[in-house]
Amino acid sequence: MIEIQIKNLYKEFDVRAKNKRLLKQMYHLIRHKFTRETRPVLKGVSLNIKGGEIVGLIGNNGSGKSTMLRLIGGIHKRYQGEIKVEGKVTSLIGLAIGLNPRLTLIENTYLAGSLLGMAFSEIKEKLDSIVKFAELEEFRDTKVYQFSQGMRSRLAISIALHTDPEIFLGDEIFTKLDEHFKNKTLKELEKITLNGGIVILVEHQLELLEDHCKRIIWLEEGLIKRDGKPGDVADEYERVNEF
Ligand SMILES: Nc1ncnc2c1ncn2[C@@H]1O[C@H](COP(=O)(O)OP(=O)(O)O)[C@@H](O)[C@H]1O
Ligand SMILES: [Mg+2]
Repeated sequence: MIEIQIKNLYKEFDVRAKNKRLLKQMYHLIRHKFTRETRPVLKGVSLNIKGGEIVGLIGNNGSGKSTMLRLIGGIHKRYQGEIKVEGKVTSLIGLAIGLNPRLTLIENTYLAGSLLGMAFSEIKEKLDSIVKFAELEEFRDTKVYQFSQGMRSRLAISIALHTDPEIFLGDEIFTKLDEHFKNKTLKELEKITLNGGIVILVEHQLELLEDHCKRIIWLEEGLIKRDGKPGDVADEYERVNEF
């Protein structure tokens, strides 16, 4: 069964200045005083998500949302606590997914597709469908630096969706999209959950989450502040953040 179980997740980052002089670092090492400066980002998060759910993840900048997705997606390896992820994960975080502006759409599709775990033959087979879903047929041989932000987003989303994920993690993926492509993407994401999968969306557009999620989780300074019905959580979040 597809599910995500997180118990008491704690994550800190090393924030020691990296440019300290070598001599000074060696001095500290020798004196066994190599002090680590750390910043706790997630401070004991527990949650379970079952297959079939679209979950919204909200919270102010720096509250730990992207870190949380990266941990679930296995991008960050070091943490304390337990993370159990059952299902094939595709994460689209920051939309970068390694798109190289100097390469063409097709070249980028092979590159990003393989970074997301697709075999060459699979990408070849799905190429037309990827380009079609992104609505970029006219730009197959155009270099990506000539693309608008929206076109890049469409390509990244289309490639990610073609990996057939059971768990889809999206970090602010709707920011550059027009309504048409937003709705088209949401429809695909709903299909994932109808097949028993999980979708987690980090998003600042609260109405979008209220319309499409069953549940919203609100992170505040590395802790879950609320976890519940979209309307209730979004209302309270808006109230608290009013001027
Ligand atoms: N690789 C990293 N190294 C050090 N600090 C980081 C790193 N990634 C994130 N952080 C810090 O973790 C905190 C939470 O970041 P993030 O998870 O990106 O928040 P959000 O996505 O909610 O805006 C921030 O204070 C950020 O500076
Ligand atoms: Mg973020």
